[in-house]
Amino acid sequence: MTAQIIDGKAIAAQIYDEIRAEIAVLKEKYGIAPGLATVLVGENPASKAYVASKQKTCVDCGFHSVGEHLPEDATQEQVEAAVRRFNEDPAIHGILVQLPLPRHLNEEKILATISIEKDVDGFHPLNIGKLAMKGRKPLFVPCTPAGCIELLVRSGIEISGAEAVVLGRSNIVGLPVSLLLLHRDATVTICHSRSRNLPEICRRADILVAAVGQPKMVKADWVKPGAVVIDVGINRIPDPTTKSGSRMVGDVDFDEVKEVAGYITPVPGGVGPMTIAMLMWNTLRGAKIAAGLIET
Ligand code: GUN
Repeated sequence: MTAQIIDGKAIAAQIYDEIRAEIAVLKEKYGIAPGLATVLVGENPASKAYVASKQKTCVDCGFHSVGEHLPEDATQEQVEAAVRRFNEDPAIHGILVQLPLPRHLNEEKILATISIEKDVDGFHPLNIGKLAMKGRKPLFVPCTPAGCIELLVRSGIEISGAEAVVLGRSNIVGLPVSLLLLHRDATVTICHSRSRNLPEICRRADILVAAVGQPKMVKADWVKPGAVVIDVGINRIPDPTTKSGSRMVGDVDFDEVKEVAGYITPVPGGVGPMTIAMLMWNTLRGAKIAAGLIET
């Protein structure tokens, strides 16, 4: 059996169509364009590329987009001041502080400075706290985890009652995706660097989410035949056959796992395109919250 490929690019394109349709209404009826502000500190090449891509997508979608790029040695006060400025700007409906921040900065305090009505990354402690509780609704859900759930739902995969195994417990992906799966009534196991018998635990999964940052770690014999495999990993490995000398792979050994799984996301072209689509979705939601069109 060869797995059905879950095409993240195609699903993200559907979401952009839905966003554009909503924006047309927002602009015509209320004269509002959603606005996203990015805060980037330092020169991390991956972070710069992600922020540039987020800003470009804003322009493509007809969003208002502004960016603050602070130097590597920016102080805690400077970063918090940039966030506060965007908190007060009525043209801004979403604020994104690109992570990771340089080590001298207090990430927790900076994320807590973001107004929760503009926390389109969903990393404010109040939003994450609500996500961790039964019966509470965060204003925003973190983008990559939300993208994983959209891929499952739009591919017609039943989450309720499924055994879900999440590899990784990061604040950005592993933990929030586990909480989202739990909210949708999956039976969730979270694995991490101290977990024993990883292959055995993974083989129990109907839905396996890999978010550990280890190239091609998940092998065919870790996967139950027919399982759904969502690969969040973005790893560069050397490849002398390519022009750049490297290529991108996920946390899953795609070539062998696709022979066992029922569904699988490729890297690139799986979860990756969904992260920015969900960010745009959240920014549109921020604009609707500001316009009083969504009850909070
Ligand atoms: N760094 C890696 N992923 C993300 C993300 O989704 N949001 C932010 N702000 N930083 C990140």
